[in-house]
Formats: sequence, structure tokens, C-alpha cells
Amino acid sequence: MRAARAVAHTNIALIKYWGKRPGDPDQNLPAVGSLSLTLERLRSETTVRPGERDSFQLDGHSDPAAAAKVARHLDRVWRSANPGPRPPCAVDSTNHLPTAAGLASSASGFAALTLAAAAAFELDLDRGALSALARRGSGSAARSLWGGFVRLGRGERADGADCRARPLFPADHWDLRLLVVHTAKGPKPIGSTDGMQRSADTSPYYPAWVATSEADLERGERALADRDLAALGAVMEHSCFKMHACMLATVPPLIYWNGTTLAAIHEVWAARRAGLEAYVTSDAGPHVKVLCRPDLAAELAARLAAVPGVHAVDTLAPGPDARVELLP
Ligand code: PMV
Repeated sequence: MRAARAVAHTNIALIKYWGKRPGDPDQNLPAVGSLSLTLERLRSETTVRPGERDSFQLDGHSDPAAAAKVARHLDRVWRSANPGPRPPCAVDSTNHLPTAAGLASSASGFAALTLAAAAAFELDLDRGALSALARRGSGSAARSLWGGFVRLGRGERADGADCRARPLFPADHWDLRLLVVHTAKGPKPIGSTDGMQRSADTSPYYPAWVATSEADLERGERALADRDLAALGAVMEHSCFKMHACMLATVPPLIYWNGTTLAAIHEVWAARRAGLEAYVTSDAGPHVKVLCRPDLAAELAARLAAVPGVHAVDTLAPGPDARVELLP
């Protein structure tokens, strides 16, 4: 075993995934595909070294619940190529994500951990195989192996081997900006895995959500290929609001938004009516993400920062591929 360090950037789904398909829960198989944009700056840096025993530090602190998840994921990576016992690992991770944001770090975190662990274990895996492994930590992590615009297919196989992301277009394909509008501090009330299960079990809209997602993915990919922002924005908003409708119809309801979330959405639409072309999306949390051209980003960010309740607005360009290096 060697020591290795990996950096992976977070991503935001333009076409969302919500729900798992039936099968082995440890495979973490999504019920629908998704299409994402990897972001600059927001990233996880993870080092995996041989250790006396397993240890995990996140931003310099230990956390037993997170350490158990990390150990389970190291087992997955090791067992993908080795029958015997896994060597103990010292894992150190730093999240370069906005402080107090409650922005999900699982995408960049599990992508960086997968890449660093595979290099440390000296496994000869291609990015597709690494993506399939990262997916077992968190669905969105499968997309963070690549920069730019990425699509994660739903896959059909029970063993998940065909459920891996692939890069559609690199970061320089289309110079867009994604504004992250922070509307709350602290962690979200219910995690996505539990929320998804609850929606699949109880939301009468869940079957419609699953049945209509493939068409959204095709529309999204075509709009990306054509660099057609109006077409991409329309299908991105539709995917987001369908997912939230499915969440709202869950029993008990999943409401990830707060009043400021709605105010920010209305502000984006008001700006759009005034000629500032911009589109919204939001995930399993209260923050609003806004897609626009670079030349409009500063004016939109200023308008959104002025919405009462908004804490901060980050402006982000498309980000790079995940990368890894062996350490001495
Ligand atoms: O990566 P997970 O399993 O935490 O789920 C992510 C779910 C959404 O962020 C709501 C949508 C998505 O595709 O990223």
C-alpha cells in the first residue's frame, strides 16, 4: 500500500436524481439517471495513508459516525480487487466548501475518497469503475470524478457495474455561471437517502417522477450540446419542481425549502422577466442555485444578495476533473 492524495470537486444536478431502484442497498442504485455540472473551487481533498489502525479526520476533527462510513467505503474499494483483509488506513479530509452553508459534501467527499483509496491500494481501475464505486458512497459522488458536464445513467444490472457516470462535455464546452444562494445555516433536517425512501414508499407522484425523467435527461443533453440556455433552463426548472412536488406529496411531507428559498426563486423569475436570463434549481435543502451567463452573474448575485434572509451568494464557473497523486 502507498499514500495518495485526491481532490474532487462538488457538482450540482441540472437534471435530478431522487429515489433508488430495487436491489442491494449497498449498491445504492438510482431509480433515475441524472445530469450535472461540476463546480470550480468547492472541493474535497482527501489523503489515504497506511496506518497503525483505521482513523479518519475531517477538517482536523474526528467524528465516529463519519469514520464508520469511511471505513465501510474503504472496504468496498479494497474488496473490488482483493479477497483478503484490508490494511488499516489513516484518512484525512478537508472540505473546501462555504462555511455554515449546509451544502452537501458527500459528492466531492466520496469521489475524493474513492480516488485516493484506489491509488493507495494500487488498484488499476478506470474512471468508469471508480465512478461506480463512488456511487456506493453517495449517488451524486459518481458524477464528481469528472469536471464539466456529466451524466449518470440509471443502469440495468443488479450488480451496478453499468451504473456509472460518463463525461458529456468538458468544463470549457460552455462558460456558464452557477450562483449558490445561501438561505439558511446548519444541516438539513432529513438526509437524502431517508427522504428518497419515504418518497418511494408514500408519494403518489413518485411513479410519475420516475417515468418522466429519461425524457428530461435527453432534453438536457441536447440543450447542452446546442449550448441553448433557454432550453436547458426550462428542463432544469421542470426537473427540479417535479422532484420537489414528489417530495411535497410524501407522507409526512418533505419540505426542504424555507421562506427565503421561495423569495429567492421569485427574485430570479422577476429578474428573468426584466431581461436577465437566469434559471433556478434546488436540491434536498433550502439553498437556491441559479444558472446564467457569465456577463449577468454579478448583477444577478447583487439582486439575490439583497433578498431578505439571504446569507451569501457564491458565483462559480464549471470545474475540473478529479485528480490524484501518489505521495512519497
Ligand atoms: O448523492 P445523494 O444520494 O445524497 O443524493 C442527491 C440527491 C439530489 O441532490 C437531491 C439530486 C442530485 O441528483 O444530486
